[in-house]
Amino acid sequence: MSSEPPGDAAYRSPVIDWASLREQAIGMLARAYAPYSDFPVGVAGLVDDGRVVTGCNVENAAYGVALCAECGMVSQLVASGGGQLVAVACVGRDGAALMPCGRCRQLLWEHGGPDCLVDSPLGPLPMRAVLPAAFGRDDLHRLAAQPSPTVSDPPQ
Ligand code: THU
Repeated sequence: MSSEPPGDAAYRSPVIDWASLREQAIGMLARAYAPYSDFPVGVAGLVDDGRVVTGCNVENAAYGVALCAECGMVSQLVASGGGQLVAVACVGRDGAALMPCGRCRQLLWEHGGPDCLVDSPLGPLPMRAVLPAAFGRDDLHRLAAQPSPTVSDPPQ
């Protein structure tokens, strides 16, 4: 079943088969390696060339180095040729939409931009709503040419 994305991204985005994306995210739950949290996560993302990339979380005995499902998906995106994410569905073991953690929102911002749609309990939301006032590459470019204050010249 296909549905039109809502909001201002609708006219820019292709019709997104959310049912298929959700199904592919659910399919990734079985691949998750989550022996420590027992909290499998699956994710699937539609790329602007029609590819679908997927990921699952991969934990570690050193808890802090766990990789979120979105990390794996973004790695697959780049390793398989790059492109821009158009729509992302992330799910927990109940198969329902799971909001990406803060770090992963930043990953999605980098590779999807403000119009990328993310499935949510409220339905698909654009990244501009999921990560408002985001830090991004524009900030790096904007400040790159500016001199840094020195100890003798503190900010006012
Ligand atoms: N997790 C993800 O894979 N993605 C998220 O956006 C939220 C959290 C994983 C990390 C960890 O393996 C488990 O869920 C519990 O936090």
